[in-house]
Amino acid sequence: MQQIKTPFFDLIENDLNRVEDLMRASSGDIHLNLDEAIFQLLSSGGKRIRPTLTLLAGAMLETESQKCVTLAAAIEMLHTATLVHDDLIDGAGLRRGNPTLNSKWPVGATVLTGDYVFARAARLAADTGSNDLMKIFAETLMIMVNGEITQLFGSNHKDYRQAYFERINAKTASLFELTTYGIALLNESDETTLQAMRAFGFEIGIAFQIVDDILDFIGVEQMVGKPVASDLRHGLITLPAVLYNETNPADNSLLQIFNGQELDEDEFHALIDKIRESSAIDQAMLEAQEYIATAKQRLIHLPIGLHRDALYELADYIIRRPL
Ligand code: IPE
Ligand code: IPE
Ligand code: MG
Ligand code: MG
Repeated sequence: MQQIKTPFFDLIENDLNRVEDLMRASSGDIHLNLDEAIFQLLSSGGKRIRPTLTLLAGAMLETESQKCVTLAAAIEMLHTATLVHDDLIDGAGLRRGNPTLNSKWPVGATVLTGDYVFARAARLAADTGSNDLMKIFAETLMIMVNGEITQLFGSNHKDYRQAYFERINAKTASLFELTTYGIALLNESDETTLQAMRAFGFEIGIAFQIVDDILDFIGVEQMVGKPVASDLRHGLITLPAVLYNETNPADNSLLQIFNGQELDEDEFHALIDKIRESSAIDQAMLEAQEYIATAKQRLIHLPIGLHRDALYELADYIIRRPL
């Protein structure tokens, strides 16, 4: 799995290296196994899209560079911790093309490693020196955990589309929102800037998760580096399934999944194929594109220049990314 190598990447490459160093800086006495696990997690790649976004947003607003690097490291650590727990919860064996921690370690050690990485993320957030930032950092984590719990226990909503958007707002868009809103907070920006930054992060975050959910249907495991066709297998109704249901309300296989029943392997694969070949994939992509278009409108209110141009590119990258 590779970091993003697009033209806008060059603009922040040096600072991104500082983020990598900061994430790896160990805070003293730590068990060798834990140290090794964290090293593996941080060395396994990942696109680093959240720190890239943080640094570009920071440079655009001319926020103090050290604060941007610290916030970017805090956010990527938080993301890393959520992945450790998410893979354990999902029973996923592969992440970024590598075996997951939960596939090698007992549950207890995996949970604790996730906890440790969460704590390191919080420590980094505190290093920004901003109480306001620390508050929204904690609140974002609360929102994300509540989103994951809702995914586990199911939502009160009968409406699958509404339940889907509530879930992805919480588990993914909230963290993207934190990247751009956090930068504006550290910069003590005016209200218009704060709100534009906040909305931009949130909306590209929604598009990012829609694309992730599309890739779960049409991606190739070796390419995306994690299990595919896994959401529906876990009974998770994502946008392509919602859209397929909207045009094929009588499809019995999908209705069975909606009712929490399991399909046999043949029936499951047939359903995945039907969804892949239906218009649902293109329609889901169109919805992601609409969020990107709206997000780009927000940039009109922000300072013109190379970094703003790069944010336009990053927004487009989100819908054409291959992994
Ligand atoms: C995976 O995030 C989890 C989602 C919110 C879809 P990324 O796709 O950013 O994962 P890495 O960090 O690049 O591996
Ligand atoms: C993102 O959603 C989960 C987190 C917020 C940690 P997914 O469950 O779709 O992420 P992947 O597909 O496992 O990366
Ligand atoms: Mg998952
Ligand atoms: Mg996914």
